[in-house]
Amino acid sequence: MDERSAGSDPVGTLPAVPRFYVTTPIYYVNDAPHVGHAYTTVNADALARWHRLAGDDVFFLTGTDEHGQKVARAAEEHGVTPKEWTDQLSTRFASAWAELNISNDDFIRTTEPRHHRTVQRFLQQIYDNGWIVKDTYSGLYCVSCEQYYSETELLEGMLCPVHRTPVEVLEEDNYFFRLSAFEDRLIEWYEKQPDAVIPEAKRNEALSFIKGGLHDISITRTSISWGVPVPWDGDHVFYVWYDALVNYLTAIGYGEDEERFAAWWPAVHHLIGKEIIRFHCVWWPAMCMAAGIDPPAQVQVHGWLLVGGEKMSKSSLNQIAPGDLVGDYGVDAVRYHLLRDTPLGSDGDFSAEGITARYNSDLANNLGNLLARVATVVGSKCNGTGPAPDSDSRLAAVAAAVGADAIEAWNDSLPHLALEATWRLIRETNAELETAEPWKAEPGPEVDAVLGSALEVLRIVALLITPAMPTAADEIWRRIGLSGSPAEGRLPEDASWGRYPGGLPVEKGEPLFPRRKA
Ligand code: MSP
Repeated sequence: MDERSAGSDPVGTLPAVPRFYVTTPIYYVNDAPHVGHAYTTVNADALARWHRLAGDDVFFLTGTDEHGQKVARAAEEHGVTPKEWTDQLSTRFASAWAELNISNDDFIRTTEPRHHRTVQRFLQQIYDNGWIVKDTYSGLYCVSCEQYYSETELLEGMLCPVHRTPVEVLEEDNYFFRLSAFEDRLIEWYEKQPDAVIPEAKRNEALSFIKGGLHDISITRTSISWGVPVPWDGDHVFYVWYDALVNYLTAIGYGEDEERFAAWWPAVHHLIGKEIIRFHCVWWPAMCMAAGIDPPAQVQVHGWLLVGGEKMSKSSLNQIAPGDLVGDYGVDAVRYHLLRDTPLGSDGDFSAEGITARYNSDLANNLGNLLARVATVVGSKCNGTGPAPDSDSRLAAVAAAVGADAIEAWNDSLPHLALEATWRLIRETNAELETAEPWKAEPGPEVDAVLGSALEVLRIVALLITPAMPTAADEIWRRIGLSGSPAEGRLPEDASWGRYPGGLPVEKGEPLFPRRKA
C-alpha cells in the first residue's frame, strides 16, 4: 500500500504533491537519551530526508512522553518536581537530536497545553461514542512498561518479560476502553491492509495477538495525579499510554485545524520498536476506530540494539550516550553505522569494534578514498578543474542500476539496503580507477573521461547518501565544485547520468573520514 496521500491544491492547477508524515515513539523522560533511542530517531530522520528529496511534502514528528508513574518516580528520586524534571530531560532529548542532525519539523511534549486539549477531546469523543465504561480492575502491573501483564506472560518469579523486575499487584476502580468489541473490526482491517504493519513477521505477531482474544483495558488512574485529567470525572487522569498515543494527532491539529488534520491523517508512517507493537498495532488502531477516524496507514516495527546480547536500556545500565559517539566518530559516521548495520526489523549488536570496522571499510577506505584520489588526480592532471563525464562510461550502467535499487529501497523504508546498493557503485568506481590508473597516464581526453565519470559518480553518491549523511553529502558536493546542496535536488531525476557539468574547481581538502585504529 502507498501510505502517502496526495496534497490538496486549493486552486486546482498544480500537480498533487505526495505527503509523508513520519513519527518516532515519544521517549520517556525517566532517563537520558541513549543510542537505542537514537537508532529509532536516526532511521525516522533518514526516511524524512529521503521523502523530501523525492519531492514529497514531509512532516516529521518526535518528542517526549512526560506523564505517568515512572516519570513521577524519577522526579521524586532526584528531589525535584515532575515539571522541573521533565523540562530538564526533554531538553536533553532535543539536544541529543540536534547533535545527530535530526531534521524534525516539530517536537511534541505531552505536558504541553495543546496536547492536554487534544487528549481530552479525543477521549471524550470515544466516551461519547460509548466505548469507555467504568469498572474495577485488579492486575499485575510493571511500572517500567506502564502495562498490565497476565500471569502467563511473566518470567519465573513474577518478573516483567521486558525489564526482568518484579511486577506489582494493582487494584483500581477505573474507566475501561472496550477493546474486546474491536476484535473483528481489527482483523478485517488487517486483512484489507496487508502492509499496515511491516515487516510481515511483526504484522503476523500483532494479528495473532488479536485473534487470541482481546480484553477491555483500563485507561485511567486515580493513584497518581501526574497526567491529563479525565474531562468527565475529575478524580481520574488518563493512563500514560492513552495520553501518549494521541501525540500523533495533537501535532497535526486534530479537533483544532480540520483542514490540516485531513491533509496529514491517516497517511502516517509510525516507526516503533518491537516492544511496543501491542500499543501501536492493536490499541491504537482500535482507539482511532472508536473515535471515528481512520487507523494509521502504516506502522514499521524495528528490533533492538543490543549490547553484549542485552537490550540497551536504563534498567540494564549498558547505555551509551549518542553525544559521546558523535564526539568520537563524527555525526555522519554514527548515523551511517546505525542505518547500515542493523536492518529495520532485526536486532543488532552495538559495539565499538563494529562501528570502527564499518567506518574503516566503508567510509575511510571506500567513500573517503574515492573522493581523495579523484580530487588529487584532478589536481595533478587537470589543473584542479573537473572534466565532464564520459557518456559511454561502463559506470553509467552501474550508476543506473544502483540508483534504481537504492531508490526502491528508500521507498520501501529500508535504509540499510539503499546504502548497501550505493556502496556497490563506490566500490566499482574505485575498481575502475585502479584499472585505468589515471595517475600514471598523460593528461588528455582519456584521463578526462575517467576522472569526469568518477566525479559524476561522486555527484550521484552525494545525492543518494543525503538522507543518511547530510553533512558528508554537502561536503562532497562542495569539493567537486557544485553549488547549493544535494538536499535541494530531486530524485530520481537528478540521479541520471551526465549531469555533472565539468569545468568546475575541484578541491582536495583534508580526508573526509580519516582512517581509525581498529
Ligand atoms: N514512551 C513510550 C512510547 C510512546 S509512543 C506513543 C516508550 N518510550 S521509550 O523511551 O521507552 O522507548 C521509545 C522507543 O525507543 C522504543 O520503541 C524503541 O523504538 C526505542 N528504543 C529504546 N531502546 C532501544 C534499543 N535498545 N534498541 C532500539 N530501540 C530502542 O516506549
